[in-house]
Amino acid sequence: MANQRSEKLQARFGLTGELAFESGPDGLLEMQVTRPEATARIALQGAQVLDWTPSGEAPVIWCSPEARYARGQAVRGGIPICWPWFGPHADDPALPAHGLARTREWRVEATASTYEGTQIDLSLVLDEDAQRQWPHPATLSLRLQIGRWLTLALTTRNDDTRPLRLGEALHTYFHVGDIERVSLLGLEGLPYIDKVAGGERGLQGAALSFTGETDRIYLSEGECQLLDPMLARNIIIEKRGSGATVVWNPWLEKSHAMGDMADDGYREMLCVESANAAEAEVTLAPGETHTLWARYGVEPLSG
Ligand code: BG6
Repeated sequence: MANQRSEKLQARFGLTGELAFESGPDGLLEMQVTRPEATARIALQGAQVLDWTPSGEAPVIWCSPEARYARGQAVRGGIPICWPWFGPHADDPALPAHGLARTREWRVEATASTYEGTQIDLSLVLDEDAQRQWPHPATLSLRLQIGRWLTLALTTRNDDTRPLRLGEALHTYFHVGDIERVSLLGLEGLPYIDKVAGGERGLQGAALSFTGETDRIYLSEGECQLLDPMLARNIIIEKRGSGATVVWNPWLEKSHAMGDMADDGYREMLCVESANAAEAEVTLAPGETHTLWARYGVEPLSG
């Protein structure tokens, strides 16, 4: 069944030698991109990029070797899409954390081979179950561009007659050589909400380094750089249409408690999420469209 579906998708949207549809674990469909500049793997469930590796580089996106691949379950790693709320639902804790988009299968709309990379357009149709949990007509689409840079553009249109309050994030897990040796630049001097300290407010001093559990929402619209001396590279994290940057590492105790992450898994990842969360949520007027855009690239660390 899954094989038949992947064959049909291949016939319609496959790009010879560049984009192949495959049936992954639990019959979940995946796309494998192979280009001279990079390779990538994308799951149709959640429109989740699971891997992106520019040629000659170690993987830039981290996916837990213990991740579970099952229908309706979030995968630990890659780039989960949090939408239309970020974190726990504000009024109903029974609703899934980080919203409805990351555990549903998306539809392929179009694919193309361009000079900058492989372009993939996906959309999420809100089924009855999703509409029961979140009764707001809206259209959601994602454009991926996979090449020397990885670009994501997540577009929401409010199809309702009422304004729409939207929380969202591109919850990117970056692969690092050693969390205790990296630094994150671009958030200096900015206010943040510290979820580890129960929502206390703080003001960032110098560049961030990591010595323990970190879970913060920075009110930031700008670019970040993730300096990694062990992998001798700098990951550039650009964004637009995003008023918050979430920085998350669960550290040892929480990694241990999570069934889909090795105890020391936290050492090789850092989430830097381009988001609209907390007071940076966005409100869309009826008919209005909003795009959350992010672009990642790698440069060698000089000196
Ligand atoms: C981060 C949140 O974005 O995602 C954390 O700030 C949360 O609070 C983390 O623990 C992981 O969430 P989940 O639902 O994928 O385990």
